[in-house]
Amino acid sequence: MCDTSTPLVFAGDSMPVFRALSKVAKQALLAPACGCQPLTVAIRNISFSPRQVTSGSDASFHSVSFSETDHPKVLITGGLGQLGVGLAKLLRYAHCSIYTVYKSINLLHCRCIYKCNVLHKNVFYIIKLYLLTHRKRFGKNNVILSDIRKPPSNVFHSGPFIYSDILDYKNLREIVVNNRITWLVHYSALLSAVGEANVALARAVNITGLHNILDIAAEHGLRLFVPSTIGAFGPTSPRNPTPDLCVQRPRTIYGVSKVHAELMGEYYHHRYGLDFRCLRYPGIISADSQPGGGTTDYAVQIFHDAVKTGKFECNLKPDTRLPMMYIDDCLRATLEVMEAPAESLSMRTYNINAMSFTPEELAKEVQKQLPDLQVTYEIDSVRQAIADSWPMNFDDSNARNDWCWKHDYDLPELVQTMLNFIGSDSRIAQAN
Ligand SMILES: NC(=O)c1ccc[n+]([C@@H]2O[C@H](COP(=O)([O-])OP(=O)(O)OC[C@H]3O[C@@H](n4cnc5c(N)ncnc54)[C@H](O)[C@@H]3O)[C@@H](O)[C@H]2O)c1
Repeated sequence: MCDTSTPLVFAGDSMPVFRALSKVAKQALLAPACGCQPLTVAIRNISFSPRQVTSGSDASFHSVSFSETDHPKVLITGGLGQLGVGLAKLLRYAHCSIYTVYKSINLLHCRCIYKCNVLHKNVFYIIKLYLLTHRKRFGKNNVILSDIRKPPSNVFHSGPFIYSDILDYKNLREIVVNNRITWLVHYSALLSAVGEANVALARAVNITGLHNILDIAAEHGLRLFVPSTIGAFGPTSPRNPTPDLCVQRPRTIYGVSKVHAELMGEYYHHRYGLDFRCLRYPGIISADSQPGGGTTDYAVQIFHDAVKTGKFECNLKPDTRLPMMYIDDCLRATLEVMEAPAESLSMRTYNINAMSFTPEELAKEVQKQLPDLQVTYEIDSVRQAIADSWPMNFDDSNARNDWCWKHDYDLPELVQTMLNFIGSDSRIAQAN
């Protein structure tokens, strides 16, 4: 079982563990290294979970050098969509995970004891921990965004961006080789509603593109993340809740392509040892990036319309219940599953969830803050049919047990955060 009290990733100096660690390490740095009084702070006092620190059978950790695993070089495909820019930002500024720090200390400790056995163990641990936790896990230049669209200037200037069409295998391989990529996050896709409007293109991007990605990842020993979706289930799946393993007979090209991705990724894992990791995301809600044509888009649009016009026309029925998640939770889950030790993953494709609500429930929560909001319903039959075949609630207990998944945002926090963000944005726009 997971120790849920232990955070997997250092978010920054504000965390109490991090501050305590810095204080102890600073004291240690001032102390003499050899023949000194032993420091009494034991490593276990820094709240590790045994699951996170056990050394693993993870193939990629054994196959690449210490410095490569310490600083993965990440390529994000389809990076200019709703999720990619946020993920790049999170990775570029993330600190080392507890797991990486511990693993690194073990390696360095062994090397140092070999060279200099007078160095006191505890002093060494603390100094290394201090140094490692002050390092960026990835660093700005080690996270490359890619897409076939032209990036807006703020994205272009925020870190490396490269043109990449996932249908062009040679170009993909060149990028991976030239940039010494070790992690690949594959976000390119056509989502559910736009996929139904252009099935041939959706089939090419979501299926042929995925084949290119799988081959590149297997060929170059990459750790590969491919998101799946609630849309990978269909009307014959149990809908409330939907477990990880059950009948999957989706009725959209999007859903079919995502089931294909899950199965192909798992097949490559078993057949070729590909380090494939996959999360089934619920509908993702974000304030600063636009959704890309999915069935859950209404849950983003309502906030923009509520702030700008005070009126919202919903394209799903008021009682359509779907699983949803705030973007920060989604991106953190992605980083956490990518960093999880391989031996903690009892499966390669996990459901993750945060909350589940209907348009009516969401509108009521928004109206608590903006009582004048008027909501009307003009049903889009394509989107409604898709939503009616999708899970109403997601069972994500395996993710919670295996790698400590835990969401931060429930419906009230989500609504407050979205309104704060969009409200301040529109006030700035009005002032300008
Ligand atoms: N956003 C959600 O609510 C949600 C929910 C479940 C799963 N997902 C999955 O997460 C991933 C990212 O979702 P998103 O919302 O950011 O998608 P999005 O539609 O906003 O962005 C997809 C990106 O893929 C790019 N793309 C299209 N064709 C391409 C090609 N040939 N080569 C390279 N790039 C190409 C597009 O230009 C676009 O920027 C997708 O795989 C999606 O299925 C998203």
